[in-house]
Amino acid sequence: MQFTRADFPDDFIFGAATAAYQIEGHSFGGAGSTHWDTFAATPGNVFGAHDGAVACDHYHRFEADLDLLQSAGMDAYRFSTSWARVLPEGRGQVNEEGLDFYDRLVDAILARGLKPFQTLYHWEMPSALADLGGWTNRDVAQWFGDFTDIIMARIGDRIESVATLNEPWCVSFLSHFLGHHAPGKRDIRATARAMHHVNLAHGEAMARLRARGQKNCGIVLNFEHSQPGNDTPEAQAAAELQDAIYNQWFIGAIAKGSYPQRVLDGFGQHMPKDWQADMELISQPIDWLGVNYYTRNLIVPAPELPWPSINVTADPLPKTDMGWAIFPEGLRNILGRLSKDYVGDMPIYVTENGMAWNDTLTDEGVDDPARTDYINGHVLAVKEAIEAGANMKGFFYWSLLDNYEWAFGYDKRFGIVHVDYETQVRTPKASFHALAQALKTNR
Ligand code: FCB
Repeated sequence: MQFTRADFPDDFIFGAATAAYQIEGHSFGGAGSTHWDTFAATPGNVFGAHDGAVACDHYHRFEADLDLLQSAGMDAYRFSTSWARVLPEGRGQVNEEGLDFYDRLVDAILARGLKPFQTLYHWEMPSALADLGGWTNRDVAQWFGDFTDIIMARIGDRIESVATLNEPWCVSFLSHFLGHHAPGKRDIRATARAMHHVNLAHGEAMARLRARGQKNCGIVLNFEHSQPGNDTPEAQAAAELQDAIYNQWFIGAIAKGSYPQRVLDGFGQHMPKDWQADMELISQPIDWLGVNYYTRNLIVPAPELPWPSINVTADPLPKTDMGWAIFPEGLRNILGRLSKDYVGDMPIYVTENGMAWNDTLTDEGVDDPARTDYINGHVLAVKEAIEAGANMKGFFYWSLLDNYEWAFGYDKRFGIVHVDYETQVRTPKASFHALAQALKTNR
């Protein structure tokens, strides 16, 4: 790595991120069914029909996994608390075993001198609520608020920071318009509703957190670098529309209380009635912003398709095993833009950044120089963003462990720690050691 801690401000933290359904093993400990269990059980949705039933068995192995995090010299751990583990039906009966698990997890994080960064929703929608329409039902905001109260009453006294939701664009657009993620809808009306209700749920959860006196409350949004795929005015317009849907809709609602007009024009009559009245709750102040960044997309017009009439075209840049172009400059740009146009001096964390690689485990371990380069490039982009004035407070690598990569099942490996899913043996990769080395150098 071409950086050490000395390149960053004293209070800048390094960590790794995970999410409940992707690592815990959702068949353990009385968790309820989620929409990912049923999505995966339906042919054609998920590679190999893989699901999160066992995943990395983190439910039983979290102590050893946290030891790894600590041994890398990290400062913090970002994890999510599964709604369906705490409330198997989404509401009503609490699963005490689930609350106990998160209680022990938080204590184990603290016992290792790590800061717990909690995410309330990283896509673990209880099936019983999916039956009622999930994110398309306005009541989801109250259901989510109630879950927030229940889990925070148990662990809120010990966590360092809490995010309401992870990646609302994926929760709504990717899952209800493109159909790639659970619940796999492809419907513009469902999308318009989900894209508003996910913000409403954020606002409701923020209000509940504030009422409890919870400190350090924020949200994790995903951003990409949306770039015109050629130099025509049509490609420019297509990229601007993609940018509005992906990069502006959520942060605009939260930071400014408004939605981009060109997206509202597309959603037309499909927006929920009187959505305007919710914008005040949605745009209440947050304490920090989490940014997940992975790639850029080259956008071209697709006039043969209905709105938004856009497509992604081939990118000449080197790609990760997901086929995602590697473009650290995009991270620097988005951080600068967010601080200038939206959040000012508010603390910003990169809450996810990482790459999948087709890793090979040998007797010597896993040699993954491409991942080390990826991390290096993106951490240096964060450093440049700081120099340009962004109030950056931390960087979390996605992910600590190889894990359940949603529609790609266990086929894509993002970890700095390799997981053998047959034996559950963990092997830190060369990138883990490179990062640990960089973090060892004290300021
Ligand atoms: C993000 C998700 C995370 C993981 C990475 C690769 O969109 O938040 O769970 O799947 O992508």
